[in-house]
Amino acid sequence: MNQENLEEILGNIDISGEAPVLEPDRQYYFMKKARTLVKEKSEALGRPLTFCVNTFGCQMNARDSEKLVGVLENIGYVEKQEEDADFVIFNTCTVRENANHRVYGRLGQLHAKKKKNPHMMIALCGCMMQEAHVVEKLKNSYSFVNLIFGTHNIYKFSELIVSALTSDRMVIDIWNDTDKIVEDLPAERKYSFKSGVNIMFGCNNFCSYCIVPYVRGRERSRSPKDIVREIEQLVADGVVEVMLLGQNVNSYGKNLEEPMTFAGLLQEIEKIEGLRRIRFMTSHPKDLSDELIEVMKNSKKICRHLHLPLQSGSSRILKRMNRRYDKEQYLALVEKIRAAVPDISLTTDIIVGFPGETEEDFLETLDVVEKVRYDSAFTFIYSKRTGTPAAVMEDQISGEDVKDRFDRLLKRVQVIGREMSSRDTGTIQEVLVEEQNEHDKSLMTGRLSNNTLVHFPGDASLVGSLIQVHLDECRGFYYMGTKVG
Ligand code: 5AD
Ligand code: SF4
Repeated sequence: MNQENLEEILGNIDISGEAPVLEPDRQYYFMKKARTLVKEKSEALGRPLTFCVNTFGCQMNARDSEKLVGVLENIGYVEKQEEDADFVIFNTCTVRENANHRVYGRLGQLHAKKKKNPHMMIALCGCMMQEAHVVEKLKNSYSFVNLIFGTHNIYKFSELIVSALTSDRMVIDIWNDTDKIVEDLPAERKYSFKSGVNIMFGCNNFCSYCIVPYVRGRERSRSPKDIVREIEQLVADGVVEVMLLGQNVNSYGKNLEEPMTFAGLLQEIEKIEGLRRIRFMTSHPKDLSDELIEVMKNSKKICRHLHLPLQSGSSRILKRMNRRYDKEQYLALVEKIRAAVPDISLTTDIIVGFPGETEEDFLETLDVVEKVRYDSAFTFIYSKRTGTPAAVMEDQISGEDVKDRFDRLLKRVQVIGREMSSRDTGTIQEVLVEEQNEHDKSLMTGRLSNNTLVHFPGDASLVGSLIQVHLDECRGFYYMGTKVG
């Protein structure tokens, strides 16, 4: 949806009558209503109203935040980086306990700011809000929060803002699950040349440690038609790279009326003219098909990068994690992928300290790390999430042993990552230029197809273009390069 189309739709809406029942019309109605409220407030104050969206967690949340920003800018708020804005929104994550602690800490700081700015509104949304004990705690101890909503009704943001702007009390709207996908709402992209695109929502896998299926609900795929149309519009708007987003993209399309595989979807997206790069995340190893490997092998646009979460290298622990693959199957899959796409860069997620993990189990994980040789790996200490099966397993472990395993793993992952990242030194590669370097303005920063960063002398006019860069030197996880031609 571009701004012109939206303005045309909003122009035809009459807000003196009742709100439409059907979506997305209902949200357009509230968007227009919110505009008048924001305008009145800002005229009374004699200045524009400002907002700040703080995003925690994964790319899915980052994309959701772009939708929040899209609505806020449309109704007349102006973005401000600091947290003393008139409207502060926290889009939260709850995948590990420390993400929750951070939100409570930040809320404490905000309370002091709100006392100084009585116009300040605070909203909380995202995964953490889908947990009943969190909302209970907020109601009891953080009553200065104005609006709380969850992951399933984010499309209702315009309507919720109108409720919050016209109410003195905390507005709470949390749904347990949904089968609804509302299309055609605005989003404000952080980058002009690349964008996340949701292809599915939710997760049906129930890995035993993971809270995501409880807070993001059951798997729902968007129709291929809607996805392709969105990407075509993005490309017309200057986007050259898309990141297809889903908790488990490899099971895309299974529940569609006309089922379609993820590999099939990729082939449709590949045909979109003007689109240059396709990324996706996240792939569950158990669902990664031969068809997908074949499509990746033959594609000109799919990037040479695959994020393939391992979680543990121990078949015994993998079983307890309900991952539905074992060590050997994982290694065989990696071999198959590397045989088909030799220059692929592999990255992963690993958890240490899962209940019952022994030193032997941990050594199996290290063994996979040595065999696969990841370009990089996100390593996590297991965090107990209330409501998940692993939280009630009897043999919870913690303390020095886990910390020691984590440190050993991190060290190996970093050493191997450095070795792997440098393999293209001396070659010329295509780079998508992303931004001016923060520390040194004479440098530009871009990304290789395999996701490695490259810094090279250049100017800001290059942002968004794909250029050839000679990789002069690898420094740890990034390259210094020189533009060619
Ligand atoms: N504890 C630690 N790490 C977790 N992850 C998911 N749940 C937990 C948990 N309870 C990690 C997994 C997943 C990544 C997004 O977060 O490795 O792939
Ligand atoms: Fe969580 Fe497993 Fe679903 Fe990933 S696949 S979101 S780890 S339950």
